[in-house]
Amino acid sequence: MRLTQAILPVAGLGTRFLPWTKVIPKELLPLRNRPMIAFLVDECLGNGITDICFVISHGKELIPQYFTKDLALEALLAKRGKVDALQELCRYAEVRFTTIYQEEQLGDGHAVLQAQTWVQSTPVAVLFGDDLIVGKATGLQQLMSAYTGLPEDSILLCLEDVPREYVRKYGIVGIDERATQGRLKKVTHLIEKPSPEEAPSTFGIVGKYIIPRSTFSALTRIVEEMGGPAGKEIRLVDAFLQQLPTTQIYGYAVEGKRIDTGTPEGYREAVRIMG
Ligand code: UTP
Repeated sequence: MRLTQAILPVAGLGTRFLPWTKVIPKELLPLRNRPMIAFLVDECLGNGITDICFVISHGKELIPQYFTKDLALEALLAKRGKVDALQELCRYAEVRFTTIYQEEQLGDGHAVLQAQTWVQSTPVAVLFGDDLIVGKATGLQQLMSAYTGLPEDSILLCLEDVPREYVRKYGIVGIDERATQGRLKKVTHLIEKPSPEEAPSTFGIVGKYIIPRSTFSALTRIVEEMGGPAGKEIRLVDAFLQQLPTTQIYGYAVEGKRIDTGTPEGYREAVRIMG
């Protein structure tokens, strides 16, 4: 495995945080003394990924700007002997950030597809802006160690075991129990937001993935079949559904507490837990 890159699609409208998100991307809401998006970037750095692509929409330029070097400010801090502040500012000096625009918010899969030509590493990590795993190991760390033992070009999804009454809020996976080893599950099918009765399991998909290059081909095919990106959202899970017959798909039930910071309630919980 040569996983050296991560795509962070953060172009979404953030409707659940309106009207706040009219002016500030939700990814910049603070947790401790940093914006939430910095926790995802740190998750990448903690796993040796220093090549990061933000997929943003117009108006969300503050996200890449937060990580951009500010030479004038650094010089001023150095002159005034503000060593700690300077150190914090230089935290991302070694990271190569790229920004790509998603011109229209046509779904998370469409956002990931915008980074296709940027991707060099096989596979590549994809981290959605909203999901934090609080625990001993980050979500990405757990996924990366699980991926090492998988067949080449597999897809690996991050899973959370959710109460059955909440399955309606998730993409739920069907599992081959015989091919399952502890937290690592072999996925046999995927259902978007099923009822508790029809859900094949209680494992819901969380917004962290390791995907092979073939997922970009699947997304491209979906766009072509639609006759171009017109109106309907293109989801990453649509590509996985298309790949199910040809590609090995696994899920890893992460250890730790998952917080969905994409909702005001989840954000409040994150503030409560993380301070
Ligand atoms: P969500 O489904 O949480 O949507 O996207 P959202 O726009 O962020 O929030 P709501 O539902 O309007 O409140 C999951 C991830 O996919 C990105 C989001 O930024 C988030 O990281 N996304 C979604 C895009 O980059 N582009 C899109 O068109 C849709």
